[in-house]
Amino acid sequence: MKIEHIGIAVDNLEAATKTYSTLLNTQPYKSETVESENVETVFFQTGDSKIELLGAINDDSVIAKYVEKKGEGMHHIAFEVDDIHAELDRLRREGFTVLNDQPKEGADNKLVAFVHPKDNHGVLVELCQGKG
Ligand code: CO
Repeated sequence: MKIEHIGIAVDNLEAATKTYSTLLNTQPYKSETVESENVETVFFQTGDSKIELLGAINDDSVIAKYVEKKGEGMHHIAFEVDDIHAELDRLRREGFTVLNDQPKEGADNKLVAFVHPKDNHGVLVELCQGKG
């Protein structure tokens, strides 16, 4: 599986976008709001992978809760798969806790689902499949 992107939870998306623009010496190639998650995202291309900055758009956002509890920082690693349904079935059979019954629409025109961090030694894992 290729690392498609790394998600980073931030408190202030505008400030974080400036920081990462300077750090990576490039401008973000897109920003997108995921209404269902109450999250605003900003994407940077880094070689074959991406950095996804995640900011809360209101207090109901999982990102608001995450930042409040754990502070800013790495939120998830996303792996790209060809067939997300097959891969989720495989992981369920292997005993992993998949947090979504069905893959859902994520940012960047992808189907996404998450695997519980407790099964991955503390790392929230996202599987994603491009919708082509
Ligand atoms: Co992601």
